[in-house]
Amino acid sequence: MSKAKYTITAALPYANGPLHLGHVAGVYLPADIFVRFLRMNNHDVAFICGSDEHGAAITLRAKKEGITPQEIVDKYNHIIGKAFQDFDISFDIFHRTSAEIHHKTSQDFFLKLYENGHFTEETSEQYFDEEYQQFLADRYITGECPKCQNPNAYGDQCEKCGSDLSPTELKNPTSTLSGKTPVLRTTSHWYLPMNRHEEWLREWIKEGKLDGVQQHDPKPWRNQVIGQCMSWIDGGLHSRAMTRDLDWGVKVPLPNADGKVLYVWLDAPIGYISATKQWALDNNKNWEDYWTGDRKLVHFIGKDNIVFHAVIFPILLKNHGGLILPDNVPAYEFLNLEGDKFSTSRNWAVWLHEYIAAYPDKMDELKYVLTAIAPETKDAEFTWKEYQTRVNSELADILGNFVNRALVLTQKYYEGKVPHQGELTAYDKEVLAEMQAIPERISKLVYLYKLRDAQAEAMNLARLGNKYLAELEPWKLIKTDEKRVETIMNIALQITANLSIVLQPFLPATAEKLSQFLNFKANDWALAGNSNLLEAGSMTNPPSIIFQKIEDSLVETEVSKLTATQVMETSFEPQKATVEFDDFTKLDIRLGTILEAEKVEKADKLLKLVVDTGIDKRTIVSGIATHYQPADIIGKTVQVLLNLAPRKIRGIESQGMILMAEDAEGNLSFMSPEKDFPAGGGIA
Ligand code: 2FM
Ligand code: ZN
Repeated sequence: MSKAKYTITAALPYANGPLHLGHVAGVYLPADIFVRFLRMNNHDVAFICGSDEHGAAITLRAKKEGITPQEIVDKYNHIIGKAFQDFDISFDIFHRTSAEIHHKTSQDFFLKLYENGHFTEETSEQYFDEEYQQFLADRYITGECPKCQNPNAYGDQCEKCGSDLSPTELKNPTSTLSGKTPVLRTTSHWYLPMNRHEEWLREWIKEGKLDGVQQHDPKPWRNQVIGQCMSWIDGGLHSRAMTRDLDWGVKVPLPNADGKVLYVWLDAPIGYISATKQWALDNNKNWEDYWTGDRKLVHFIGKDNIVFHAVIFPILLKNHGGLILPDNVPAYEFLNLEGDKFSTSRNWAVWLHEYIAAYPDKMDELKYVLTAIAPETKDAEFTWKEYQTRVNSELADILGNFVNRALVLTQKYYEGKVPHQGELTAYDKEVLAEMQAIPERISKLVYLYKLRDAQAEAMNLARLGNKYLAELEPWKLIKTDEKRVETIMNIALQITANLSIVLQPFLPATAEKLSQFLNFKANDWALAGNSNLLEAGSMTNPPSIIFQKIEDSLVETEVSKLTATQVMETSFEPQKATVEFDDFTKLDIRLGTILEAEKVEKADKLLKLVVDTGIDKRTIVSGIATHYQPADIIGKTVQVLLNLAPRKIRGIESQGMILMAEDAEGNLSFMSPEKDFPAGGGIA
């Protein structure tokens, strides 16, 4: 039977922020393991990714950072792409949806569906922000979720209960742009009538059949993927707008469609196709070979992307015709961090690029831990303590210890030469049989997308070797039975060589180190299980320690960094730009006592004060009349900025400023000294 061919995609990350460990554990690392395994098994594979550069996620971030959307996507495409490269995620291409080839590909795709009558044009009333002169879809609008009453649901989705929403369903809608209540205005868009597709989708998702023909085996589909799709379909599929009134995105390729772009969830998955096109162009291949015929398309995604990949994109692909539908959509649940959700806005995250910068020689340690705790079937949690425990007691104490013993003893007893394998005992045979069985077990698990168990199985080979040496104690036996020790050490080295194969998908850098120690390299999975990978007499090299133990101090540093850099959810303005101390010392702030206070005529908010500053008595006009009555503040000692350039306010020259504390609601309070200090004292 010829080997199945694969096109593997990993969700295109929004180019609106860096990657954190949640993204890595729940999409990119498992996809990479799967692909590395397929390549070792001689499957024809294309591994496709890129950054998702359209949609409100981008434009809102640009607004927040005060730069253009193009600057935002350039910045994060670079940061994300570099992190993937440094972490050695082995994409064939990491592309981007702002590329011209992508705009063209998605416009052609749209036109084909349009021309074949797969869209309907509908006019409806939609929310509009009058201040910003913009229609508000998706994340541009928030309000109360009609299903779970979450007050901060988005116009397209409630992140709390996972419901799919449209802006008009939200109660108390608010514009994300102006914070104001929007008005309704008429606009027209092209819609995908998903209701036309319920029937075939059910059969295809649940039984894997399309028009009665078996397309995929539904068994390896995760329960939660099938479950989420079916409950969505059971709730009744509706028409969904495929265009938006925005100026950032892929322009709708129709006349009279000025100011309209494709919905980001229409163009993003087409990004998998345009990225494949670019890769094919760069490598002298035909992109169609990767999207047609007898080939498995697999989308690695997070659970919030399920319906887009398992319902909407398949409808689009089927409508387009001639393209394959996904064979599987392995979706991951969420990873939490130290007892809380990852949150970009609160900076509750471990950022991949920061981990790489801090621990450039610990890539495999992170890969190992993230796969060991991967949120395959339920949400999981990353803690630095568990990271430490797993690295120390699994990678270092089992894998590292075994490999080190095998190679060090080989140096010591045979100057690095692989000894001869003599007669085998029953125990040797048992161990070799187990070694032979492991690759097949790993293989079965990988094809079922159970990568966590697959990695555990690969570690079982290290466990087996570690136990073998610990039980036979060749370091003692060498004194009485040199011949027997040769066989034991040969077997230990064969196990190490096998580890250099089976660890490759999971821990590629470690596998490479083992290969260097052994002067043996095999990329072919079919060789795994073989008990004669190393010839007697071949030379090995002195090993180095492959895993350093993780000190408590690393755990402490990382946990406190997390807490220290956490940004509180607040309605206060973010911190202003840093100033030098010299700039601060230019301000002359002192204590002053209010001697007189009276209202300024025809100005509701102003009080005219006479203040004793310790060096003089001066007039200061202050905007506190709605907070304090003149009679109540005579005699108060407050903070005064003395050397503020004098200003005329309502015809009165104000010679300084009273410094006030302000809360999130705009209430004001004097900052009086807590001790009874006289006027004139400086602020230090
Ligand atoms: O959820 C996200 O991060 C999206 N940018 C994923 C897009 S996947 C694909 F369709 F492009
Ligand atoms: Zn909700």
